[in-house]
Amino acid sequence: MTTNNFMQKQYGLTDNPFTGNTADRSWVDTWVDREEQVTKWNSVITKLQNPRKNYIVFIIGDYGEGKTQSLFKVLDDSKDISEVYSAYFTFKGEQKPRTPGLEFMFRIFKSIDFNALHGKYKEKLGAAIDAIPEELGEVKNVLEICFFAESELRDLSRYFLRGEIRPNNNQLKKLQIIRKIDDIDIAKEYLTGMLIVFKNLGVNTLLLAVDEVEYLFSLVPKSQQSIYVALLRGLYDFPSDVKFAGDNAAKIAMFLAVSTDGYRRLKENEKQETSTGGPTTPLLDRIDISTNLGALTRQATRDLVAKRLHFDRVGKKHFDPLIPFDESFIDLIWDLTKGNPRDIIDKCNYVLDAGIEKGITLLDKNTAIQLLTERREI
Ligand SMILES: Nc1ncnc2c1ncn2[C@@H]1O[C@H](COP(=O)(O)OP(=O)(O)O)[C@@H](O)[C@H]1O
Ligand SMILES: [Mg+2]
Repeated sequence: MTTNNFMQKQYGLTDNPFTGNTADRSWVDTWVDREEQVTKWNSVITKLQNPRKNYIVFIIGDYGEGKTQSLFKVLDDSKDISEVYSAYFTFKGEQKPRTPGLEFMFRIFKSIDFNALHGKYKEKLGAAIDAIPEELGEVKNVLEICFFAESELRDLSRYFLRGEIRPNNNQLKKLQIIRKIDDIDIAKEYLTGMLIVFKNLGVNTLLLAVDEVEYLFSLVPKSQQSIYVALLRGLYDFPSDVKFAGDNAAKIAMFLAVSTDGYRRLKENEKQETSTGGPTTPLLDRIDISTNLGALTRQATRDLVAKRLHFDRVGKKHFDPLIPFDESFIDLIWDLTKGNPRDIIDKCNYVLDAGIEKGITLLDKNTAIQLLTERREI
């Protein structure tokens, strides 16, 4: 009998609910605690329906404390607001960027689902693109193609916007443009165009949920890191430095998830810049809200374990937990993990894996210690 069949028979469930210790959109249903932080995030989210400015929110946390899950929570809490379009992406890249910063701009375009936009706003799209002023003529041409051209040309324009091709002259001609996107200012023109399109579709905010911001410190040498910091700061001031957009463009709200260490490095750079000047202070000055995650309380640890045990990856919530547990089990998990969400899930995962195999009927401290010892996890 495979484990799955066994689990289904014994427990009526299809998967160990602690498998996979990284965030996932479906785990928003098992969200626990963080009330203070969620309240702060929501205080920004409610303003995004009709924002008068751009926003920067920092989500700071150690490894496994739930930064990615927090971004998914923010996305979930904003998903029903039709005036908000949200996009998730991470700073972490596979390769060293050719031009620092530009890669980041391309990622924004990568995270926009053009097909979905086309499907949802078919009737309004033409007029929204028409609202792009003539000064941004190239942007207008490319976005027009991106939504309305036949498939091959449409794909070409999308690869171009995402930085996946470097177009030759023939391709540039097809896209009805002269300039490639080879510096940040040109990329910003495209973003401005896109923000104008959003605004004219009734989308007042582009919400960017950006993960693993600490990678900016390993992407490029120190001398170039300030380019990224300046870019983030520039996006906050955006598009006031572009004269054509004004109130006719959607605003940007950035939720930036960064490791505690990454944040510390930002603060260090800020200190070093006090005499020389630099982009870090202006960036940190622009933070609207900064939230630290930290460890979960014992009560929240219990809630997390309980919620996962009641949750089936198929998406059903069950009245009875997968396996009943007692307080001694929670005490042990709390002792071993000190409330780090990823550690809680890892420990429970080992216990469940082994426990399911053995067909245990109660999760308690002694059983768990025995199973973890057998697996050399304690
Ligand atoms: N507040 C929370 N409620 C429920 N589960 C959480 C919470 N925070 C984190 N988790 C879970 O803990 C694990 C680690 O979270 P993750 O967001 O991947 O951490 P990080 O990005 O900080 O390294 C994931 O499985 C995630 O679903
Ligand atoms: Mg993460």
